[in-house]
Amino acid sequence: MTIERTFSIVKPNAVAKNVIGAIFNRFETAGFKIIATKMLHLTKEQAEGFYAEHKDRPFFNGLVEFMTSGPVVVSVLEGENAVQRHRDLMGATNPSNALAGTLRADYADSFTENATHGSDSTDSAAREITYFFGEGEICPRTR
Ligand code: TYD
Ligand code: MG
Repeated sequence: MTIERTFSIVKPNAVAKNVIGAIFNRFETAGFKIIATKMLHLTKEQAEGFYAEHKDRPFFNGLVEFMTSGPVVVSVLEGENAVQRHRDLMGATNPSNALAGTLRADYADSFTENATHGSDSTDSAAREITYFFGEGEICPRTR
């Protein structure tokens, strides 16, 4: 068992439907510790940089437009096998394929507006956490 950190975004459609708390409740119920969090409205440059790996994909412009359409909540989650367990909690990228009870099955509106982001590897998690949080903004638990 390995304690890992992963990076989460509650995307603009989920913030708009008032389910930040419901999603945080799922994280905490699943045993994750929220060790950093903040709300921000991404600029086009921030969204393009965050999703740079997808810049040549046909969905890229729509994805950036969606991610800048309203505020998001970015967080760092800590827990055992956090990267994979958080991906499992979110469900498949395409909500049509997301298992019942997953965040995307419950809160997605479309393939692009799929409610949440989660890192896909520990390397991505490290890069994504650094993209949004300074070391002083991360608060590991002492109790
Ligand atoms: P991706 O990194 O493949 O998925 P995940 O978020 O599960 O890691 O894609 C990033 C986001 O881009 C995805 O959450 C939703 C959007 N997207 C589309 O709109 N259409 C697509 O065909 C794909 C693959 C992704
Ligand atoms: Mg991804």
